[in-house]
Amino acid sequence: MTGRVVVVGSANVDLVVDVPRQPHGGETVLGGDVRRSPGGKGANQAVAASLAGGAETTFLGAFGDDDGAEFLLASLTKAEVRTDLVSRVDSATGTAFIMVSPDGENSIVVAPGANSRLQLGQTQLERIAAADVVLAQLEVPLEAVTAAAAARRTGARMVLNAAPSRPLPDLDLDVLIVNEHEAADLAGTSGTPEELARILQRRAPAVVITLGAAGCVVAEREIEHLPGFGVSPVDTTGAGDTFCGVLAAALAEGRPLREAAERAGAAAALAVTRPGAQSAVPTAAEVAEFAEFATGGNA
Ligand code: RIB
Ligand code: NA
Repeated sequence: MTGRVVVVGSANVDLVVDVPRQPHGGETVLGGDVRRSPGGKGANQAVAASLAGGAETTFLGAFGDDDGAEFLLASLTKAEVRTDLVSRVDSATGTAFIMVSPDGENSIVVAPGANSRLQLGQTQLERIAAADVVLAQLEVPLEAVTAAAAARRTGARMVLNAAPSRPLPDLDLDVLIVNEHEAADLAGTSGTPEELARILQRRAPAVVITLGAAGCVVAEREIEHLPGFGVSPVDTTGAGDTFCGVLAAALAEGRPLREAAERAGAAAALAVTRPGAQSAVPTAAEVAEFAEFATGGNA
């Protein structure tokens, strides 16, 4: 069964430069050549849900009227994401400035532009109402996230990747996905991932905390740590987005959360071995082959 996923979120042109190390405040560091690659948490997650997750995926976001918009639409279309309901607004298409260091780590500044003008109209809300899973992040106005949650049909799941960190009111969520930093910010305290997951279950019945190379913690009634896959990171940009998109697609297919998180972890592990965000998303076949190889190797 193929599930239907609607992603409500941002799309950015990523301007990426390799740096020998992340600069301190007031410091200038010489980097490599600048690369332009398709990004934005929402668009990355949509590409992952479609390409790696195999879901029928719609992206709902806002673009400017510029060549950045065309560049991003081309990447979504190539991954077979439906873009018929994206909005065009009178603002520059979102841009992200990304520095990648040799350990694969990054720092990112986002100029949201058009993303901050996203509003959902009637046709978009109808598409949401036809989805099995609605997936959102926090690079677009909260009003759009709230409207998306309210528009889902009974039985459909609302998944929020609360990234980047920002103050969050109570929302009607089914699954919350955060990394360790976002988990601590949202919980308002520090603690082990298991402790933070339990605290965050006040916000959503199911919580997933991603731990980078260490895998993830999945909390529903039970709480479980799923180990990571040992890979050498090249560029971690967008790996969390691959995780979220694949998890949403697997839930939309009717898989249990634990199994969805396992698949998502395998896809994200592959994504960190490749440069870029959308350009690093593996195909469903690559994920299946890798997961089989990894579990076979452990057995
Ligand atoms: O999560 C990675 C993404 O964050 C990048 O593609 C960048 O555009 C920012 O939105
Ligand atoms: Na990557």
